[in-house]
Amino acid sequence: MESSNRKIVYSAAQPSGNLTIGNYAGAVGNWVRMQKEYDCFYAIADLHAITVRQEPSELRRRTLELAALYVACGIDPEHCALYVQSNVSAHAELAWVLNTLTYVGEMERMTQFKDKSQKHADNINMGLMDYPVLMAADILLYQADYVPVGVDQKQHVEITRDIANRFNNRYGETFRVPEPLILKSGAKIMSLQDPARKMSKSDENPNASVYLSDDRDTVIRKFKRAVTDSESCVRASADKPGITNLLTIYSVFKGCSVAEAEKEFSGVGYGDFKSAVGETVADALAPVQAEQKRLLADKGYLGGILSSGAERAFKAARKTLSKVYCKVGFYRGE
Ligand code: TRP
Repeated sequence: MESSNRKIVYSAAQPSGNLTIGNYAGAVGNWVRMQKEYDCFYAIADLHAITVRQEPSELRRRTLELAALYVACGIDPEHCALYVQSNVSAHAELAWVLNTLTYVGEMERMTQFKDKSQKHADNINMGLMDYPVLMAADILLYQADYVPVGVDQKQHVEITRDIANRFNNRYGETFRVPEPLILKSGAKIMSLQDPARKMSKSDENPNASVYLSDDRDTVIRKFKRAVTDSESCVRASADKPGITNLLTIYSVFKGCSVAEAEKEFSGVGYGDFKSAVGETVADALAPVQAEQKRLLADKGYLGGILSSGAERAFKAARKTLSKVYCKVGFYRGE
């Protein structure tokens, strides 16, 4: 990753919950595609993860699993900095400064804060409320041009822009004001049990989501149980959300269009169609899972990727942080 005139991309994902095939088709795929065109920094956001209670050993395990999964999916450590957020102390340091430019009222109004406060009513901690400020610090440290995120994170990127502008106005031009890139990815993958809802990594119904970690039999079983309709004709249409979703998934994992998939399955019964989708997904996941397993067994190699990622990230972050410390008037030695 040479410093160049290329635009800078920053994104991060929390090591909480298991990634689904929806994440694979969306976020992960986009990260992989963007690394060729941009200078990318990708973090495993463990500082964000502890805003809800985590079992320490699980958090560590998931951090490594997620890192291994990204590499297995094609994130190339030669092309981007893949690192663990807490390994670069500048994130927490900049967040502190940005806190002083952020108002309690605007944090209380954040949609995700309100949702999570309801969900974790017994643990509405300061970190949960401060979550968007830490995210702003993540992004602004790297002078990112673009921030690829799901639509649920758009509000956080908008507040990041506000905070950046506020800092720049008060202390002089310091941060690049980033733009969100809302990932549509063409394919929106829905729950297998309720195709009106997005497939989610935190769904309570275990049959609703297919996880990247599911073994072959589990994948096939979940597709067999997918909710469909009573028409018995494999075609995509608004009044057939279950079948439409299965066709979308098939097209993503087979690398064909939905129209081609419809043609392939015309006249085929739902049972056979569901099996074919399940097998296609299981076939596509197998090499990724094998590679992830291989990486997890070679902790030295994976650790090396993460430490060189953190080093590159640190170099970029340090520049911005020194500028900030200087601008706000911190004593930096004579
Ligand atoms: N909050 C994001 C999520 O849960 C993860 C994240 C943390 C992030 N820091 C970020 C995303 C900075 C983009 C940029 O999805």
